[in-house]
Amino acid sequence: MARILGGITTSHIPAVGNAIANKLFDDPYWKPFFDAYPPIHDWLARVKPDVVINIYNDHGLGFFLDKMPTFAIGAAHEYRNEDEGWGIPQLPPFPGDAAFSWHIIEGMVADEFDITSCQELAVDHGFTVPMQLFWPKLGQDPNFPRAIPISANTVQHPIPTLHRALEFGRSLRKAILSWPRDIRVVVLGTGGLSHQLDGQRAGFINTAFDKYCMEKIVSAPDELTRISRMELVEKAGAQGTEFLMWLMMRGALGEKVNLLTQNYHVPISNTGAGTMLLECAD
Ligand code: DHB
Ligand code: FE
Repeated sequence: MARILGGITTSHIPAVGNAIANKLFDDPYWKPFFDAYPPIHDWLARVKPDVVINIYNDHGLGFFLDKMPTFAIGAAHEYRNEDEGWGIPQLPPFPGDAAFSWHIIEGMVADEFDITSCQELAVDHGFTVPMQLFWPKLGQDPNFPRAIPISANTVQHPIPTLHRALEFGRSLRKAILSWPRDIRVVVLGTGGLSHQLDGQRAGFINTAFDKYCMEKIVSAPDELTRISRMELVEKAGAQGTEFLMWLMMRGALGEKVNLLTQNYHVPISNTGAGTMLLECAD
């Protein structure tokens, strides 16, 4: 039976992709951010997941405003990265696990989640930057897992509610655990925390709210579902809606988790950057 080992969160700021390309790990601006990752590398080297489910939000590469799925799951044998215009070096394709994807999609649709299945999907910085942060050698790493991308709409309103995001994760958990093969799975929740890239509040960051979210997501995620979508935009900024990905990830981990490591650093580019490693305790 498939097992869920834990979940990891990180912001996915495109400037991080360029900092990685330029090896700025010890640069004074970047060091407090990159220092969060070695403990996570150690954990991943120890638990050796076979599959990573990367819950991210596409920003206009895989989907655009003309067609915007609320919840989309990759069902491809590989996922290619393309030039998005941020100047980040393009990465080689990521190997997928189409059979496992279809099992998840079938399970979740039977559980009454309406999913867009994607047999072809280009993945953007929301997917690639976390993969680089957690597996710095990418495909050269002998333990590099197969990837399944899951994207939710945080771009074009109406976006899903926080309650729906957490329930999505719980349904995803049931689908994963019903896969009969003996594989080990980690789930990523990427994006966030507070940021707003444009408009009158460009540059808005809310450290107090970010810290509240990081605290509650460990032991009281249901409390966070009382936040309305309007309130989320108000408190976290227009792009802070990416916190939905963290709730989707959290739902997949079961009721009890142990917090193994966390980091919060502000700002990186325009964003409150949060990193957490949660191990499943159920
Ligand atoms: C930034 C953050 C994001 O989440 C994103 O998708 C693009 C840019 C930023 O802070 O620069
Ligand atoms: Fe983003």
